[in-house]
Amino acid sequence: MKRSTLSVMETFKERKSDRAFSQKDIDSQTLSDLLWCAQGKNREDGKLTTPTCRNWQEIRLYVFDSKGVSLYNPQKHTLTSVAKGDNRGLIAGGQNWAADAPVCLVLVADLDKPKSYDVRSQRMAAVDVGICSQNISLACAAFGLATVPRATMDIKSICQLLNLTENQLPLINNPVGYPAGK
Ligand SMILES: Cc1cc2nc3c(=O)[nH]c(=O)nc-3n(C[C@H](O)[C@H](O)[C@H](O)COP(=O)(O)O)c2cc1C
Repeated sequence: MKRSTLSVMETFKERKSDRAFSQKDIDSQTLSDLLWCAQGKNREDGKLTTPTCRNWQEIRLYVFDSKGVSLYNPQKHTLTSVAKGDNRGLIAGGQNWAADAPVCLVLVADLDKPKSYDVRSQRMAAVDVGICSQNISLACAAFGLATVPRATMDIKSICQLLNLTENQLPLINNPVGYPAGK
């Protein structure tokens, strides 16, 4: 991966919530880099760019775009289609500007992966998802992309669309696109 990016200090300076997106598509290499930053495999032992509690690796990262929904596999660095059609309206959940983003990354805490369901585990999964979302925000800042971490979304409809169990919890989404006007 070769990419000219900002320094760490410049990246943190640029990190912000941006809620206005251009219609320009994100090219596949940029999306690929963004997914790797979010939670790609970065070591031979299979560990990831984002830490997780006891290395549960319980975050399901879904990519919503105008054509469908895909699930990211961090170990293989691949996307698998799981639903067809433009479902970005479910992510907007009333904040209509969010559906303008060409891509939306949805982070689902999958407690069925560690099979650990108590309140403490739920909290740790929320921490893990928060760290992953911040990876996304910082990568976007470095790549000149706009994003905002969001709790708002139509959770019931998303669970139905993705056939999620009651222990697979959509917690945060990050709409991603180029900033409006660019
Ligand atoms: C857990 C969490 C949930 C959030 N949910 C939403 C949301 O649903 N909609 C929204 O517009 N912004 C949402 N935000 C963004 C915050 O409003 C934003 O981070 C805050 O106003 C500070 O602005 P900044 O990110 O530019 O520093 C959320 C942020 C966090 C950390």
